[in-house]
Amino acid sequence: TEIKIFSPATVANVACGFDVLGFCLDSQGDEMIIRKTKEKGIKITHIEGFDLPYETEKNVAGVSALAMYKNAKPDCGFEIEIYKRIKPGSGIGSSAASAVGSVFGMNELLGKPYNKTQLTCFAMKGEALASKSEHADNLAPAIFGGFTLVKSTLPLDIIQIPTPQDLYATIIHPQIEIKTSDAREILPKNISLKDAISQWANVGSLVHALHTSDYKLIHRSLQDIIIEPYRKQLIPFFDDVKFAAIKAGALGCAISGSGPSIFTLSKGKEIAQNIKDVMSLVYSKTNIDFDIHISKIN
Ligand code: HSE
Repeated sequence: TEIKIFSPATVANVACGFDVLGFCLDSQGDEMIIRKTKEKGIKITHIEGFDLPYETEKNVAGVSALAMYKNAKPDCGFEIEIYKRIKPGSGIGSSAASAVGSVFGMNELLGKPYNKTQLTCFAMKGEALASKSEHADNLAPAIFGGFTLVKSTLPLDIIQIPTPQDLYATIIHPQIEIKTSDAREILPKNISLKDAISQWANVGSLVHALHTSDYKLIHRSLQDIIIEPYRKQLIPFFDDVKFAAIKAGALGCAISGSGPSIFTLSKGKEIAQNIKDVMSLVYSKTNIDFDIHISKIN
């Protein structure tokens, strides 16, 4: 009648795939305990780590749980305990992890009536509360694992993409907070056809490269010419970090989700470690605190 969940952090956009591509980071995540109760309804009974609302309708995990609860109409209720480890506003899918954990746990306790796409659909309601937009590019990799592509949100259509054997991510998180809603506000409403062509060519070639384990093509495809020029202004020393990471052998370096975290991909753990060292060096020369992680992508 009770289940403990690890709800992973995720990297959305993956440079060229704004709002569609994402991958899962299994080295970082929240923990949640979901418990069946006789009393009906959804209650959040414990929150640890960060100051988040207990009121179900105002809590991301609560809102997604309610969406599923209203659909399932079960003969029981649920209690949710949240052990929040992913800092909100850090750019690695903090709200998505919350939104996914509750519905994943409830689905297990109900005997798995819903498939992964349906779970993502419920979780989108929670994500929308946090970021004021119904995107699923953090939710899908948190539920499916590895790389995912959200082909459409209405109807929700998610495609899993294979991960090359030896692919690592290094993620640095400078300790400033950027709200996804703010980072979306500054984006242009229209883009040029020329830029759109470059960007979708990169999305196509990145997906092909992941399928064929073509690391050189991953390198040539990991570029974001549309979103990065606007958002990098919100992230101090972004260009320095990127320059250092690429020099240290990163296949690419870009903003993780809506920032401020910055991710790189690399072939093999040794390069990932070198990248960690050089990225750390950039911020250690500033007064900005940071933390940095390496994750093998599975
Ligand atoms: N695709 C979203 C964005 C991810 O970049 O705004 C952040 O939640």
